[in-house]
Amino acid sequence: MTRTPVILDVDTGIDDAYAILFAARHPDLNLLGVTCVDGNTNVDQVVTNTLLVLDAAGVGDVPVARGAVRPLLGKSHYAEYVHGADGMGDLGLPPSARKVDGRSAVELIRDLIENSATPVTLIPLAPLTNIALFLRAFPETAKKLKGITLMGGSASAGNATPAAEFNIWHDPEAAAIVFQSGVPITMYGLDVFMRPGITSGEAERLKKSSDPSGVFAGSLIAAFIERIGSPVTIGDAGAVIAVVAPELITYKKFDVVVDTSSGPARGQTICDRRPPLELDIEPLRLADSANVDVALDLDVEAIRQLWLSTVDSNW
Ligand code: BDR
Ligand code: CA
Repeated sequence: MTRTPVILDVDTGIDDAYAILFAARHPDLNLLGVTCVDGNTNVDQVVTNTLLVLDAAGVGDVPVARGAVRPLLGKSHYAEYVHGADGMGDLGLPPSARKVDGRSAVELIRDLIENSATPVTLIPLAPLTNIALFLRAFPETAKKLKGITLMGGSASAGNATPAAEFNIWHDPEAAAIVFQSGVPITMYGLDVFMRPGITSGEAERLKKSSDPSGVFAGSLIAAFIERIGSPVTIGDAGAVIAVVAPELITYKKFDVVVDTSSGPARGQTICDRRPPLELDIEPLRLADSANVDVALDLDVEAIRQLWLSTVDSNW
């Protein structure tokens, strides 16, 4: 079986680290490259964190590129209150000897898509600044994508604000460009994001593994549990699992539009959940909306076990 080619776009980020570990180690995925963006912390720290996570995953040469240093229009709002001052739980992890790729994030995304024999799935786990810039810079290359499966948004409540999820809220203009791009979009958002959780007992078991990847994952989870309590979600890793095991997730198609106003709903992904009566009346349809597969439910236990057994070969 050919492995599914994927590119991750990250703001590493504790749960981005869970996602990178999974993507780098799952046998059905071919992790072509990782691009970094301003989000949970500044982009240089994101690059530093991403390189050391690839070390922990025990993978060979996966190119990592630096991307946008701030959102398209607004200011950066770092999530240090969740991810720590270094974006990785302040564990004092040693820097990697890996080198960052000389290309920018958008150039690396272009080259990896153009050079892939099979259509690539793009997996953004962060504010969508890099992806919007890529779509604007290389629209012909974007047409070759299989699709975009992103962590972001919500069909219900937000987390950064009552209405908006962090990744979308951090750069709503970029998100609007992505959602209006015409590329098939799957949204793994807050309706499911928190549900697959790892307990402190499981983190301690990972820490005792003879697999360095398992030990690394366990240490990160334990640090996160100290910060916010147990259990902790596998977070962004769920969006990668959505690509490799879509049967574990239940989706519904909605017209989705991103709120780019300056009001209290800025960054909301408005999902048109009205009954068919209104949806069939053309003038009542949302303008500029995209028809998106929105994750609404998942098989929590299967997803938890898939993540644990992938990041730790002894699980
Ligand atoms: C998203 O925000 C970030 O803090 C996490 O890494 C995740 O991508 C959740 O809202
Ligand atoms: Ca993230």
